[in-house]
Amino acid sequence: MEALLETEVAGLKLRNPLVLASGILGNNPSLLKRVEQAGAGALTTKTILPEPTRGYDNPVVVELPFGLINAMGLPNPGIKEFERELAEARSEISIPIIGSAGGGTPEEVAYVAGRLQDAGVDAVEINASCPHVKGHGLEIGGTPDSLEELVAVVRRSIRIPLLVKLTPMTSDIRSLGEAAVRAGADGLTAINTLRAMYIDVDAMVPVLSNKVGGLSGPAIRPVAVRSVYELAPISDVIGTGGVESWRDAAEMLLAGAKAVGVGTAIMTRGLEVFGEILNGLSNYLERKNLSVRELIGRGRDT
Ligand code: FUM
Repeated sequence: MEALLETEVAGLKLRNPLVLASGILGNNPSLLKRVEQAGAGALTTKTILPEPTRGYDNPVVVELPFGLINAMGLPNPGIKEFERELAEARSEISIPIIGSAGGGTPEEVAYVAGRLQDAGVDAVEINASCPHVKGHGLEIGGTPDSLEELVAVVRRSIRIPLLVKLTPMTSDIRSLGEAAVRAGADGLTAINTLRAMYIDVDAMVPVLSNKVGGLSGPAIRPVAVRSVYELAPISDVIGTGGVESWRDAAEMLLAGAKAVGVGTAIMTRGLEVFGEILNGLSNYLERKNLSVRELIGRGRDT
């Protein structure tokens, strides 16, 4: 059963294709250990910045029938404090840990990435796509030119595998992916959230304190599948966006993803979702007489 589910993405060997997406859970070591116990093949930390950040005031999440809009504001303990948490987590967790690095300039992101590497992460994922924090994410990596510069600077600061989390808010995600690969990325994570807003019609005000946030969950899954389809020919991809069931995970793999991110489903259904997806996926693979590696890209019809 293990071999059936094994995969490899950006040089990381995974016992199964499910990856905890960035930004979903805190970085508390015991919480991260529970992610491993729940069955994940790898986990991604919340985005770490050079300095601690409180994030936005509440409310930071709105739940809708088709997904969530969140605007947390990149709350994080800063890289110095995170190094302590990571050291504890690292000694207890054996699945690959992907450290999400952020910052307001390429040099800041590179600084965080270098320290994450030294603290023991197995790979770094650049957050080049948060859609609502001023001076971060999308604002420093949302065009091919800015992304190429960002990735090149970070690439020079680390030796471990480098992933780049891309925004779907572009007319041509493949150009973004190509820029990241040219600059030395080993893999792409597709996709981050889409900038979105929700107004309470009774109160007649936007619900989120930041007014604007990022839409995730089932509503964006078809956008994520299309993005994976467009990016898979140029790079290893972790397909992320609205995956809630084994069918959703299989769809990402069929589109060409080498691994599958799970995010919002954990917020709405808990960590059990990893086990549920893995059981369903194993049954499906057995019925089809295929392994995960054999499934990858099989739905591309090219
Ligand atoms: O609000 C947040 O912390 C979101 C980050 C992201 O979308 O990357």
